[in-house]
This record gives sequence, structure tokens and C-alpha cells, in this order.
Amino acid sequence: MQNNYPVSQFEKEFARYIGVRYAVSVSSGTAGLVVSMMALGLEPGDTIITTPLTFIATSNSALCAGGIPVFADVQRDTFCLDPEDTAKRITNNTKAIVGVHLYGLPFAIERLRDLVTNGRIRIVEDASQALGASINGRKVGALGDVAVFSFYETKHIRLGEGGMITTNDKEFAEHCKMIRSHGQSSKYYHKILGYNFRLPISSALIGLEQLRKIEEDIKRRVRISEIYMENLQRVDSIRLQRIDAGVRHSYYLFPLLVEKLPLRKIDALVNYVLRRTGRKLTRGYRRLVYQQPFYRNIERLFWAAKFLKFPDYSSCSLPNAEYVVSRLVELPTDDSVSEEEADNISRTLLRGIKEST
Ligand SMILES: Cc1ncc(COP(=O)(O)O)c(C=O)c1O
Repeated sequence: MQNNYPVSQFEKEFARYIGVRYAVSVSSGTAGLVVSMMALGLEPGDTIITTPLTFIATSNSALCAGGIPVFADVQRDTFCLDPEDTAKRITNNTKAIVGVHLYGLPFAIERLRDLVTNGRIRIVEDASQALGASINGRKVGALGDVAVFSFYETKHIRLGEGGMITTNDKEFAEHCKMIRSHGQSSKYYHKILGYNFRLPISSALIGLEQLRKIEEDIKRRVRISEIYMENLQRVDSIRLQRIDAGVRHSYYLFPLLVEKLPLRKIDALVNYVLRRTGRKLTRGYRRLVYQQPFYRNIERLFWAAKFLKFPDYSSCSLPNAEYVVSRLVELPTDDSVSEEEADNISRTLLRGIKEST
């Protein structure tokens, strides 16, 4: 017999930390999203509205569960899903809205709740990048109907691979548990379609240890980010994410937009910082999900297109998301960055911008 105690203990402590009744561990954030989408019980033609400025797993999980992703624009000042634009895209087929707390900043979920008057539409949080973030003291993961976290090796909890689903809905949690384990309701009794998406016991043990230290990690990330902010926030050609009162950002990374410079100069700026600090700043996803070859050619590349009518993603155009993705630069917040280095990186970036204008 396996001793599953560490897994259930990790789920229990995680649920307590987030402030929800149920947490279901899974083998990755992607697995958590696929399981959640499957548990929504999508029917042919059902759509999921989401942001195109995210890791592809967010919308691919809807595809895996038979859903049709529909993309809404982001806000230019938070880089997260725009509730107003999202609300305009709701139809009778909309089953769920998946917002992403991008880089650790909670998306405007309360405004979205106000606008979504149809109670049947579920609000899903892709909280892969946002463990520990909150709005008015309520943590992400407890704000929507269901949420998913990632424990990929760059995230706040780093297990190599791993993830967690959180919800207050008992039936939904039970459904997720079954899907996670080949649809079994009891040993070798398979009631529904499922997969092996279980979190290994060894990972749960490491997860427990990291969870117990998570607040220290987030406080350190916030301190590093405050240094970046101090140096960069009043600079004309730099836009930082807007953080409303009551919001706690958990800074998976510290993103900014380099505005006003011609686009081709932004890569040169990254090289400028690399040469002087030894740090290679990253440029984010570089393209939106609907700009990925798979989405542009979905009719040809995905068997489900024979049965479902997908939007023409190649003609999709969301101006804010396209603007943000083209100008993003990410600064590191992980524990390899000291406060002195954060100061040096941001001052060097500033110098680089001054020299290029
Ligand atoms: C926003 C977002 N969604 C989903 C995922 C998928 O998580 P994982 O890599 O654990 O499968 C990630 C992380 O990689 C992510 O950043």
C-alpha cells in the first residue's frame, strides 16, 4: 500500500493557506487546467473566453476538453484580461471565463463578476504565476469558482513539475479527483474519462516544505520589486503594471513595457543590460496565443476542427494585447537576485533607455 499521507497533507495545508475548502494536487499546472476544463462538462459549441497574453496551456486546456477558446483583449495598464472587453464577447455558448493573474498581479476579477450577470458562467483563475497574491486580504485561488496553480521549476513553489486546483465546490473537487486518476471512483472502477495526472508523493513532501516558507519568499520578491519600482516608476518611457489599492502582487517576475522607443531598439536595450550586468532580461511570450502557428492553422492541425467551428484565429486582432506583448521586458525576482543587483539592473536599464533616445 502506498502512503498517500504527504499528498493529502499538502492539499490540506495548501487549501488552508489559500482560504478554500478543497485543494486537489495534480502533476502540473497544465494538468490542473485540463482537469478543470474537463470537470466543467463542456458540450459541443461551448466557448471559453480568455486572454491571449499567457502561456499556451491556458487556452489549450479548453481545446483538450472540447471547448472553443475565444480571446478577449487585456488592459494596457495591468496586462491582464479586460473585464469590459470580455463581457462584450459573452454569448449563450459561453461556459467559462479564464483570467490569468499575470506575473503575480490579480486580474480584475471583482469587476468581471459585476459584469457577468449569467450565473451559469464559471470564472476560472489561472493562478499559475500568482501564489500568495491577494485582493483586500483574499488570496487568489479563492476569488473565482475554481483556480489552478503551477509548481513548475520557475514558479513560487518549485517541484520540477506539479500543480494544484482550488475550489469551494465539493462536487467539483470530487469530479477533479476522479479525472486526475483515470476516472476511478474506487479501485479499478472507472466511471468517467480521466488520465494519470497525480502528484508524486516525493513532490508533495517538497511542496509542503516550500509552502511553509512561502511568505518569506514573497516578501523577498516584493522587496526586490520595490527597488525596481523606486528606480523606474517615474520614467516617461517605462510603463509598470498598475496595482490598485488593496492588491498584493506576488511578483513571479517584474514586468514592464518599454514605450516610445522603436521596437527594434528594445532587444538592443536587453543586450546593453546583459553586457553591463551579466543578466539576460527576458522578453516574455513574444507572440500572443492566437498568433501561434497552431492557432493560425487550427483547421488543418487539430482533428476536432472537423466537428467544431473554431473562430478564424488568424484574423483575430486585439490591440492592447498586441501592444503589450511587443514591448514587454521582464526583470528577475527569484532568489538569485540580491537587492544590490536589483538596483544595478534597473539603473543600468534606465541608462540604456536614456542613451537610446
Ligand atoms: C499562466 C500559466 N498557465 C499555465 C501554465 C502551465 O503550468 P505548467 O508548466 O505547470 O504545466 C503556466 C506555467 O508554465 C503559466 O505560466
